[in-house]
Amino acid sequence: MMKQRELFGSRFAVIAAMAGSAVGLGNIWRFPYVLGQYGGAAFILVYVVAGVLLALPIFYAESIIGRRSRSDTFGAMNKFAPGTPWRWAGLITIVSPLLILCYYSVVGGWSVEYLFKSLSFSFTDIPAEKIPALFNTFITSAWQPVVSHTVFMAMVAFIVLGGVKSGIEKFSKLAMPALLFLLLVIVGYSLTLPGSFKGVEYLLKPDFSKLTADGISAAMGQAFFSLSLGVGTILTYSSYVKKEENLMVSGVGTAVSDLMFALIAAFAVMPAVFAAGLEPGSGPGLVFETLPYIFNRMGTGLPVMTTFLSAIFFLAILAAALTSAISMLEVGVAFLTDEWKMNRRKATLLLAFLCWLVGILCSLSFGPLAHVKLLGYTFFNFLDHLCSDWLMPLGGLIFTLFVGWKMSRADVRDEFTNGGTVNRRLFGVVYFLMRYLAPVGIAVVFLSNLLL
Ligand code: PFF
Repeated sequence: MMKQRELFGSRFAVIAAMAGSAVGLGNIWRFPYVLGQYGGAAFILVYVVAGVLLALPIFYAESIIGRRSRSDTFGAMNKFAPGTPWRWAGLITIVSPLLILCYYSVVGGWSVEYLFKSLSFSFTDIPAEKIPALFNTFITSAWQPVVSHTVFMAMVAFIVLGGVKSGIEKFSKLAMPALLFLLLVIVGYSLTLPGSFKGVEYLLKPDFSKLTADGISAAMGQAFFSLSLGVGTILTYSSYVKKEENLMVSGVGTAVSDLMFALIAAFAVMPAVFAAGLEPGSGPGLVFETLPYIFNRMGTGLPVMTTFLSAIFFLAILAAALTSAISMLEVGVAFLTDEWKMNRRKATLLLAFLCWLVGILCSLSFGPLAHVKLLGYTFFNFLDHLCSDWLMPLGGLIFTLFVGWKMSRADVRDEFTNGGTVNRRLFGVVYFLMRYLAPVGIAVVFLSNLLL
């Protein structure tokens, strides 16, 4: 008998929640910088192709398993392949988003701190040149980033405690349009700065010579991380999607929103970075070091403007990070409530607490624990490397192989076409991509991670 599950209320809610999971720090700090590094518009082209041929099929594989089973990742595998090792494969994809949450929350905490710094006029009281250094002082200190990590994790737990409809759905429906608006304000501002045109050129000028094997693998990796694939979040959210929804539409809606937000973020950040003559390839620190610097310089004599712009910007990052982080926690919460019959409150608090503890190590790995290395990586970098380069592609492989080779074709077809009423013509192509092309593509990602 099918369990009574909380379901998302509308199509907009489904897309807001899924796009909320997809759009996050990966779009705002990572995409602009990788884009410039690997040939601008040429990278977008490969990214879109990788998205359609590789990422969307994995997305559909997760959606099909999730909605058909109405279960968490472990339970879903156990339902369709009872008593087989598949369920342990499902378990991996429950652990990986929780591992991501441990270090993601640290960066989420940075945005909390920077929002606070903006509002307390910290970026207006000192000369602009001193601002980039603030970031390093902050992340290497022992307790401050741990406090912000704690605040961020508490917010995540608070939203997930609210449940699917009044927690996740409500927050995502509010945060996503707000994020769009806030980023557009920054784009508008950024494009009016003198010299910003160079940033636009950096983002858009196609440079095919930079599209090396490395660039192609970066595009695939970015597509994985950005669409939250292979970690059971899309599977879990799909288990809350009503039968009448068209899975094809929610997949395309999510992927298009994700790309749109990534491009908007790129146009918010890069033109400003160029206008200020700063270094575009500085990675994780990029937005934290450069944006407040730019806001300070542009707002000289007008501290309120600096405060206003930087507060908007960090609020946008915080909202994006929160909607992603709640999806990571929800995967584990769904598992504990479905399989161990734990109540939502206990499950949420327990998992948030565990991730918070591990997150402290990640946070300290920029300062007091910087010398502690696992396989040559600090805690933070180790978890990031493990999850984005190995566990996410592995999860993607598990899901596509499961749908393509383990579930019956008739079941897969029935779920994707809503019982033969929609997407009938497209099914053959999507099935081929899930069964053959996506697993091969993921194998390529693995090989390139091994060799490059
Ligand atoms: N897609 C998120 C981003 O781009 O920041 C990251 C992410 C979310 C990864 C959820 C994994 C996950 F389960």
